[in-house]
Amino acid sequence: MKRALTLFGASLLLASTSYVHAQGGDPRAGESLHSDANCLSCHTANPYSTAKTPNFERLVAAVNFCNVNLNTGWFDDEVLDVATYLNEKYYKYEIK
Ligand code: HEC
Repeated sequence: MKRALTLFGASLLLASTSYVHAQGGDPRAGESLHSDANCLSCHTANPYSTAKTPNFERLVAAVNFCNVNLNTGWFDDEVLDVATYLNEKYYKYEIK
């Protein structure tokens, strides 16, 4: 059972990293998800910064970190939409 869980975890990890290499998501969908989730309740005092998140892949991971910890319930494609929106507005990384 433990092995099965480990395998399951590994496949989840693969599934969740593969989308990072997709093209960016939909920034307009991301903008409304972002405002609905009230992310700025923390991130006004703790502004989004390229110092902490140096590339687009890390940005996607950071959005997912807050998504998971806050139980926002976004799917991978929604995380990507939000990251694409934040990238357009704050980070301006090239999305490969
Ligand atoms: C309860 C407070 C809180 C809320 C609400 C919150 N975050 Fe965060 N977020 C944090 C903390 C703490 C970090 C850790 C890194 C830091 O010091 O900025 C972080 C880091 C991040 C980062 C990387 C930081 C950077 O400067 O690049 C991103 C992107 C991010 N959050 C996105 C979101 C999104 C999207 C939401 C809305 C779903 C959200 N956060 C809601 C507390 C919060």
